[in-house]
Amino acid sequence: MKILVVGTGAREHAICSALADEATIYSVMGNRNPGISRLAREFTVAPEVDTEGVVRFASEKGVDMAFIGPEAPLEAGLVDALEEAGIPSVGPTRDAARIETDKSFMRKLFEDYRIPGSITYRVFSDPEELREFMEDFDSEAVVKPVGLTGGKGVKIVGEHLRDNMEALKYATEVIEKRIGGHPSVVIEERVVGEEFTVQAFSDGEHIVPMPAVQDHPHAYEGDQGPITGGMGSYSDSDELLPFLTQKDYEDAVEIMQRTVDAIRKETGPYRGILYGQFMLSADGPKLIEYNARFGDPEAMNVLPLLESSMLEICEGIVDGNLKSASFMNLATVCKYLVPEGYPESGVAGAEIKVDEKKIEDMGVITYYAAVNQEDDHIYTSSSRALALVAPADDIYSAEELCEEATAHVKGRLYHRRDIGTRELVEKRIKHMEDLRS
Ligand code: GLY
Repeated sequence: MKILVVGTGAREHAICSALADEATIYSVMGNRNPGISRLAREFTVAPEVDTEGVVRFASEKGVDMAFIGPEAPLEAGLVDALEEAGIPSVGPTRDAARIETDKSFMRKLFEDYRIPGSITYRVFSDPEELREFMEDFDSEAVVKPVGLTGGKGVKIVGEHLRDNMEALKYATEVIEKRIGGHPSVVIEERVVGEEFTVQAFSDGEHIVPMPAVQDHPHAYEGDQGPITGGMGSYSDSDELLPFLTQKDYEDAVEIMQRTVDAIRKETGPYRGILYGQFMLSADGPKLIEYNARFGDPEAMNVLPLLESSMLEICEGIVDGNLKSASFMNLATVCKYLVPEGYPESGVAGAEIKVDEKKIEDMGVITYYAAVNQEDDHIYTSSSRALALVAPADDIYSAEELCEEATAHVKGRLYHRRDIGTRELVEKRIKHMEDLRS
């Protein structure tokens, strides 16, 4: 079986690793990722959103199936183009991917199909209507451009914005400057709680959920500093998180199943990975947003634990015949090493040295992200460089292992030492206990 994996990052490195023993990998990537290039039979360094170019490469190589890692090619209609060329894909069509690429579509789906876990929201394209609404809005606001912004467009009162008047100013700018590609903006109530992620395989009818994960979007320790693509994440050995009960998890999965049922009726089957980002509030899980793909870093917490055949899962997704998936009962901690200055001005072109052998001997996994391999040398780009993932019996042992492994990476990089530490995890538990009491 020949599989084309589209995408460049650590997430795609993890997808390729999960498939590598069972399939022959072909890759289209935006820069030369040393991990993917090593696993691929053939690769091309080319734009992932050039649908014609990707389909041509896939057809020339005679691939049987494609797996689309990031959201941008989904929005560009890559899955539709591959299907026209007779190549089935793990990834939703452009229409079904609107669950991520069009936030107003997502919220309306919740309303129309009465899916639980929704929050108060309104969509605006008229700045005057927006102003009138905001003057009376009595919750703290979250401002979301309707379209994709690479994770940088969402601004929250209390985090990035002082108050609702500053939110109004930013929301007006989103409409007028078409931030995210649409002249409209979503205003939501801010939900207080703990964030968590559930990812699920979906064949359009059934979903198979994966263990819950918690990501850390802030750049600096103690959840300080600018928002990034994610500095690291952890998962627990029982598919839950230390602050997340079985019922919370099942409620989140139910929300995702109901969403997949609704998408099927609106656009046709959703085939691929559905990523639900939830806020666990005092009233249970609330859906913050969906992604139409694996999370990055969350993919790296779950894929190394997969015991079932990834190839069979992919075949089940595209055939509409998905069965089940089992994961090892281990906890994981993932830490991203990122260039100095990231996310605003990450130092690019700096050489890094990774002692993969020492890292592997410790039982830790290296996933390369936005780096460039030239001959035997690896250089940073301005984005996240590589992720280290440690599996262990519990979160704190995984954290210690992961932290020790960072000593085997040299270069102008930094990482968050606090991800997965007892101190930070206990803070999350206490936060939820306080909210629920
Ligand atoms: N972890 C955030 C994302 O994948 O978008």
